[in-house]
Amino acid sequence: MNASLTIRNAELVLPGRIERADVSVINGRIYAIGYGIPDVGDVINAEGLCLLPGIIDPQVHFREPGADHKEDLHSGSCAAAAGGVTSYLDMPNNVPPVITRQQMAEKKQLAAEKSVVNYGFFMGATSENLDELNAVENVCGIKIFMGSSTGDLLVDNPVVLERIFANGSRLIAVHAEDESVLQTNKDLLNDFSDVRIHSRLRDESAALRATKLAVRLSLQYQRRLHILHLTTEDECDFLRTLPREHRISTEVCPQHFTLTVPECYQKLGTLAQMNPPLRTKRHADALWQALKDGIIDCIATDHAPHTLAEKDQPYGKAPSGMPGVETSLALLLDRVNRNDCTLQEVAFWMSESPAKLYRMKGKGRIEVGQDADLVLVDLTLKKTVTNGELNTRVNWSPYHGMELRGWPVRTIVNGQTVFLNGEVDESVRGREICFAR
Ligand code: DOR
Repeated sequence: MNASLTIRNAELVLPGRIERADVSVINGRIYAIGYGIPDVGDVINAEGLCLLPGIIDPQVHFREPGADHKEDLHSGSCAAAAGGVTSYLDMPNNVPPVITRQQMAEKKQLAAEKSVVNYGFFMGATSENLDELNAVENVCGIKIFMGSSTGDLLVDNPVVLERIFANGSRLIAVHAEDESVLQTNKDLLNDFSDVRIHSRLRDESAALRATKLAVRLSLQYQRRLHILHLTTEDECDFLRTLPREHRISTEVCPQHFTLTVPECYQKLGTLAQMNPPLRTKRHADALWQALKDGIIDCIATDHAPHTLAEKDQPYGKAPSGMPGVETSLALLLDRVNRNDCTLQEVAFWMSESPAKLYRMKGKGRIEVGQDADLVLVDLTLKKTVTNGELNTRVNWSPYHGMELRGWPVRTIVNGQTVFLNGEVDESVRGREICFAR
């Protein structure tokens, strides 16, 4: 393992500024930043490229154990590496769901054997596993599905929700859709043959209601809360009313500000079906604005692969979810090229902010002493997202056919190059992320 190297002549995206300088890495950590620093290890001439802190994707579903025909910790992590993602936080809705210390230990073992980038895991909440949730060590948080989605995890009883919020101190991340609204809508609407019904079944009020309940519980019990994949203007407006010092963080997925209904259902059919659903342009624009305003803290992909055959089934049978870990950075770099945002905002939303809010040790910034998780990007490189040319096992993307300008060209994990010019080095292994309590 060679975890020492020197990167020369890149534009470094540092906290607060962009600066042309050199970086050296020794034993997997950033050793020096500056001019004229001595060579260590391999020397990379990164003239014309920008160096960002490695992207952290704080919400993926890599499907292992239980559904490795869709993805596993190896294939998912290879897709991450190709997308410039050096660390990911993986969800517990596996088969069986990860709800005990024993299952968590087994999943960590699998990741140590198979993941080419760094990893962290959520514990799944049920109505019975409070002791496990509080006793498990070194996880990023507790995941609560307040509304049903892929898998069996669901906690929709307000009494149980309150018990979880009231007991313990670890971060709670919620999938905020209110189950009773979803069920009522199911009873009211009767044409289930068309995927366009999906965004009405899981309407804006379901999201807002669950978000409000989670926020109330978080404030009442002073419990750290993260609201996963925000989708509505209504939720953003509500969050704008909260005190700035609140302990609540939120995220948005690129698909929710990039793809809009009804066009996406016409073009993609059930490939565009996910939970919470894609919404109209009004919501997409409001989410982008909330991200720019700092109301939304970070970007996650909710990478949720299902095979094309599974997705090809009629609405009602087709599962919800779409892949995204491999394309998120490129989508944002394309926005940098269109002057919608800056490279510094991208580094903040996709690395520094998730590292901070999940209290990851040694991640999120290009700084001496930090882990050498880095990504070199070429802002001039144009590529078209193409089904069949991806690393995710399902090998399709909702962005198929989209030309994006700005792509990762080298991904470095703990000082080791794991992705270079289109090729993943499958022999690299990532490490478990350490979370401070
Ligand atoms: O669309 C979704 N798919 N939303 C989720 O909450 C779960 C995910 C999956 O695991 O397929």
